[in-house]
Parts: sequence; C-alpha cells; structure tokens
Amino acid sequence: MADLAPDPNEPHGSLNEHPRTALVLGATSDIAVAVLAELARHGLRAAVLAARDPEAAARAVADAAPALTTESMAWDALEVEGHRALVERAAGSLGQVDLVVCAVGLLGHHAGRTMGPVDVDHMVRTNFAGPAAALAAAGQFLVEQGHGTIVVLSSVAGLRARRSNYVYGSTKAGLDVFAQGLSDALVGTGVRCLVVRPGFVRSRMTDGLDPAPFSTDPATVARATVAALQDPRRDVASVPRVLGPLFGVVRALPRPLWRRVAGDR
Ligand SMILES: NC(=O)c1ccc[n+]([C@@H]2O[C@H](COP(=O)([O-])OP(=O)(O)OC[C@H]3O[C@@H](n4cnc5c(N)ncnc54)[C@H](OP(=O)(O)O)[C@@H]3O)[C@@H](O)[C@H]2O)c1
Repeated sequence: MADLAPDPNEPHGSLNEHPRTALVLGATSDIAVAVLAELARHGLRAAVLAARDPEAAARAVADAAPALTTESMAWDALEVEGHRALVERAAGSLGQVDLVVCAVGLLGHHAGRTMGPVDVDHMVRTNFAGPAAALAAAGQFLVEQGHGTIVVLSSVAGLRARRSNYVYGSTKAGLDVFAQGLSDALVGTGVRCLVVRPGFVRSRMTDGLDPAPFSTDPATVARATVAALQDPRRDVASVPRVLGPLFGVVRALPRPLWRRVAGDR
C-alpha cells in the first residue's frame, strides 16, 4: 500500500486536520466505520484496519467507504506488547500515519453491581488499560514521525458515574483523563489528541437498549469528529454539542438528586 501513500512533502499541519492515511484501532466499530466513510469524503485515501476480526473490518469498511484503500491487521487491545509493532507495521504499509482512531470498547448492558471481579477486570482492561497502552504507543510513534492526530472515542458516561453502568463509566473516565493528559503533553510536538465524547449512539454496542435523550447515530458522530478534526483549536468534541454544557450542570448536581435523575438507565 506504500505507493498509495501521500506525498511526504505535504505540510504536516494540514495533514493533522485533513489526514490522508489512518490507523483504526477497533476497526469493526460502527462509529469507526462511519468516521472512515466521512473522512474518505474529505480526502482520506488509505487506512489500516486493526481488529480482532480483520475480515469483518475489511467487509464493513468496503461497504461504507468503497473508494478507500485498506489493509486489515489482526490486533487485540489486551495484548499490549504488540501495540508498538502494530503502529510500525501500519506506518510501513501506509508510508506515514496521519491519524490514529481508537474505537475499542465494551459496554455490558445495564451492568453495574451484577458484574463480578472477572467481568470488571475484563472491562477495565478492554476499555481503559489496553487502549491507554495503545495510545501511548501511537503518541510516541507520531512524535517521532513529527506529525499526526489521535482521536479517542470516550463517552459522556465517563463524566458522571451512573449506578446502572458505573463500571463502563469509570473505564471511560480513566481513558478520557488519560487522553486529556496526553493531549496536553503533546502540545508543541506537532501531534494532537482529540477526545470525542458521544452520548447514546445507536450502534451494535447499544443494540436492544432504549435510546437515551439526545441519542445520535454513527454518521452524526462521524460528521462531528471530522468537523472537530478540521479545527486545530478543538481538543474535545461532545456529540451532540449540547451535551458539553449539559454535563457541566450534571456534574454539579448533588448525588441524591443525580441518583433520581439518572434512575436505572
Ligand atoms: N454506542 C454508544 O452509545 C457509544 C457512546 C459513547 C461512546 N462510545 C464509544 O465509541 C467506541 C465505539 O463504539 P461503537 O458504538 O462503534 O460500538 P461497537 O460497534 O460495539 O465497537 C466496539 C469496538 O471495540 C472492539 N473491541 C472490543 N474489545 C476489543 C479488544 N479486546 N481488542 C480489539 N478491539 C476490541 C470491537 O471489536 P469486535 O468486533 O472484535 O468485538 C468493536 O470494533 C467505543 O469506545 C465506545 O465505548 C459508544
């Protein structure tokens, strides 16, 4: 795929906002596939799809973004020793990596108190430890390369714990804070990190759940992500936007009131 790689002389600042190549972590994700399709409409040419099921990722992206050149690679977020090697393989294939999108996640429907130690450990490693290790590898590689953007799919669920899904919420809180710190640490390196915080998205992850207020779909998250990417001042994007100020209020609610507002959803 290297001969399809973009011109390395293209100004790096522009590639951070208008990426030509991407590495997607968790590439079977409905949101990630929609982001790739939206990016393809904005000049993305080639992507490496890293997924536990690389063939499923290839099929999903071929359907959604047929013009995109892709290569699929088997990858598991829990195998942290392989993260650096994956980024290097992706760079070898793409020529350079302009964008890394991390879309790994596991919800666990309405799982809170019912989750035992093994399930909690698995969710923490899937949603936080594994992705954080991958972001570390991506950040280091992109700094060495001299440019690039990292997009992290966080969630408003991480902004305030709900009794019905505090395990998921706390893992997203951890990843969100990690990504914010990474974003600050990258200032001045030519590399940028954008945290995307959707509310409820109607995707495979939420199949069978009642949509929450302000629910969206993967295409809406994708459009908001690409719009935020194109603005170099943005380091956080709430989707829909209203959730940013709304959660500013939600975070200040006294706990008894929050328990009533959140209910069991
Ligand atoms: N849907 C929502 O309401 C919502 C809201 C806010 C934020 N988000 C976040 O957005 C991201 C994408 O979610 P989505 O809605 O697109 O859900 P999705 O379609 O279920 O995508 C989740 C992805 O995570 C991957 N994954 C899980 N465990 C993995 C592991 N050990 N190694 C590698 N990949 C692994 C899945 O791969 P497999 O195909 O192998 O399972 C899948 O590609 C997630 O981080 C999620 O937390 C979602």
